[in-house]
Amino acid sequence: MIEGDEPGETMSDAIRVIQLSDTHFREDDAEPEGNHSYDVDLAFEAVLGHLGDHGDHDMVVVTGDVADHGRSGQYQKAATAFSQFTIPVNVTPGNHDQAAAFVAGMGRPGVGTSRVVEAGPWAFLFVDSNAGNMVEHPSGRLVDHEDYDNRLHREGSLGEREATWVHDMCTATAAEHVFVWVHHPPANPVPLMKATDYTAEWSSLLSALPQIRGLGTGHTHIPASYEFEGRGIHVAPSFKNSFDLENETWLPPGYRTYRFETDGSVSSELHLVDHERWPRRPLGRALKSLFMGEITFEQLEAIAARRAASTD
Ligand SMILES: [Fe+2]
Repeated sequence: MIEGDEPGETMSDAIRVIQLSDTHFREDDAEPEGNHSYDVDLAFEAVLGHLGDHGDHDMVVVTGDVADHGRSGQYQKAATAFSQFTIPVNVTPGNHDQAAAFVAGMGRPGVGTSRVVEAGPWAFLFVDSNAGNMVEHPSGRLVDHEDYDNRLHREGSLGEREATWVHDMCTATAAEHVFVWVHHPPANPVPLMKATDYTAEWSSLLSALPQIRGLGTGHTHIPASYEFEGRGIHVAPSFKNSFDLENETWLPPGYRTYRFETDGSVSSELHLVDHERWPRRPLGRALKSLFMGEITFEQLEAIAARRAASTD
């Protein structure tokens, strides 16, 4: 916990955070985008049960794709679920979210969309990796493109405004260490998600800002931890479906936990909630080819449709 001021209370150690990502909540009667989806309500219940009494943590963060289609009814479900945590929840959007519905839907006591949270010697920045894909409204405000698919199918992009904001916050904070929560991971080893331009944006920010100690991300649904520009990049699993490319299997839903030490070091642990409902079945060849960048989403869908037709 954060340092206390009660007599006899010791200075704290680490800041402890729980990270969820890609929860993809949807209305009870809604079809999942792209088909293949676990029951995310059951996945949320399973994760909450796995966490048990989590009051020894300081905060829950959710790194985007809160809703499956960015609709307000989906945020109502998400906010009701997140309200079950006994500690504050802070959320940043993904490419499945829609900016206005996201901010309005996440505004509840204990659940919010703050852009900066300071705790002890740490500043946590909640960065919007969709910002560079948004358009300027005549009022000067950044809004989503009117075509939802435009946001859904784009790679991460900070754009000059968001990149400048990261730079300004790192300079403005009195905190010694900075950690970034953001939906899209830069330099992802999965060929489908290489995102060269986005990676270059982070490369230049990280080389200018040594106080950034690492990034907590989501998006790929392939949990991982790797190094980029000397910083740890951690990718959380999804509630909708998750995959292990090394062992070529599906994975159950799960979450990550983090410890942020006073000396600026960060450790992160992956937790998967195994259950017979979510067997680690082999990854099909088509899905593997998609991740390897050998076929497109459209080609994958055509293969799935052909298979469905032949089994009818
Ligand atoms: Fe996602």
